[in-house]
Amino acid sequence: MNYTPSPSRYDAMVYRRCGHSGLKLPAISLGLWHNFGEDANHETKRAICREAFDCGITHFDLANNYGPPPGSAEEAFGEILKTDLRGYRNEIVISSKAGYGMWPGPYGEWGSRKYLISSCEDSLRRMGVDYVDIFYSHRFDPETPLEETMGALDSLVRQGKALYVGISSYNSDRTREAVRILGEMGTPLLIHQPSYNMLNRWVERDGLKETLAELGVGSIAFTPLAQGMLTGKYLKGIPEGSRATQGKSLRPSMINEQAIVHLNKLNEIAQARGQTLAQMAIAWVLRNEGITSALIGASRPEQVTDCVGAVSNLEFTEDELKLIDDYAREEDINLWARSSDS
Ligand SMILES: NC(=O)c1ccc[n+]([C@@H]2O[C@H](COP(=O)([O-])OP(=O)(O)OC[C@H]3O[C@@H](n4cnc5c(N)ncnc54)[C@H](OP(=O)(O)O)[C@@H]3O)[C@@H](O)[C@H]2O)c1
Repeated sequence: MNYTPSPSRYDAMVYRRCGHSGLKLPAISLGLWHNFGEDANHETKRAICREAFDCGITHFDLANNYGPPPGSAEEAFGEILKTDLRGYRNEIVISSKAGYGMWPGPYGEWGSRKYLISSCEDSLRRMGVDYVDIFYSHRFDPETPLEETMGALDSLVRQGKALYVGISSYNSDRTREAVRILGEMGTPLLIHQPSYNMLNRWVERDGLKETLAELGVGSIAFTPLAQGMLTGKYLKGIPEGSRATQGKSLRPSMINEQAIVHLNKLNEIAQARGQTLAQMAIAWVLRNEGITSALIGASRPEQVTDCVGAVSNLEFTEDELKLIDDYAREEDINLWARSSDS
């Protein structure tokens, strides 16, 4: 099917400057962690990306290991770039990452120069692009000198394989070190990618938002919907086909009776604001401009349409925020804590 992007695609989306850089990101970005592997239908993947682009989502986030199998999400996105998005590369910000296990042996994970540079080259090949816009260190490596990991990111920029660099799930102290090291090399840190949502507030305890503001580094919050918990999907329990039934990253035990009561209360608050729960959860992450972009996932194009509606109301009253805090209690859902704890 031929696709022509909507001529009004830039009308409703909000674009925010990423830290002190020249790059603006859409307030909502699309990630391809789940739903883009070989276990998902390619036509649905195409439809999700087309809907995103039509809604003004210019930023697509990938990583070497997204699938299953690892690498297949980048291959699928490469296919979509060749078909639907052909001719639009200059309008799109593509990111990829390396840090988690990708191939066997001592060079297939963490933060060595050997791993990061070869992994980035593989990502470029799988997506069929000459460069990525942003390349990330996917997690902090306590055993590799940070100078080596940041040096590899700097080299990728100098080689023209990445335009900007980022880090993911680093705490404030590590972030400061990374900014200093990169600064000495002349490559500024563009962006930090932390997990953040109403049920996972480690960035607030860490002070990361303030740290990034002080350092002039942008931020993109992943899992703003707590992997789907903060949507209308689980208000009556766990529906067939949802992520919680797939044996992947969302434990069904998280959707217990207490959680369902709280989610329904949050849904009422959202309704009173004239929003869906997903829209309110995204708006909450983006409130006060503290976060540059909310990085969502989607299994259907209609979810993208719903999520994008969040940008029409990003303001909260103090009363609304207090009420949200009564029901959005922190849950044990931060699967990435090992990186920010080290
Ligand atoms: N840096 C890192 O270490 C890291 C780690 C994790 C993720 N990420 C990035 O963050 C991205 C987003 O992660 P995520 O997919 O967990 O984010 P999320 O937005 O919290 O959850 C997405 C899931 O929520 C459900 N959903 C989305 N919109 C919905 C709507 N309007 N109504 C009902 N359900 C809706 C869908 O679940 P169903 O599938 O059940 O329909 C969808 O797959 C990833 O793709 C990746 O790019 C980065």
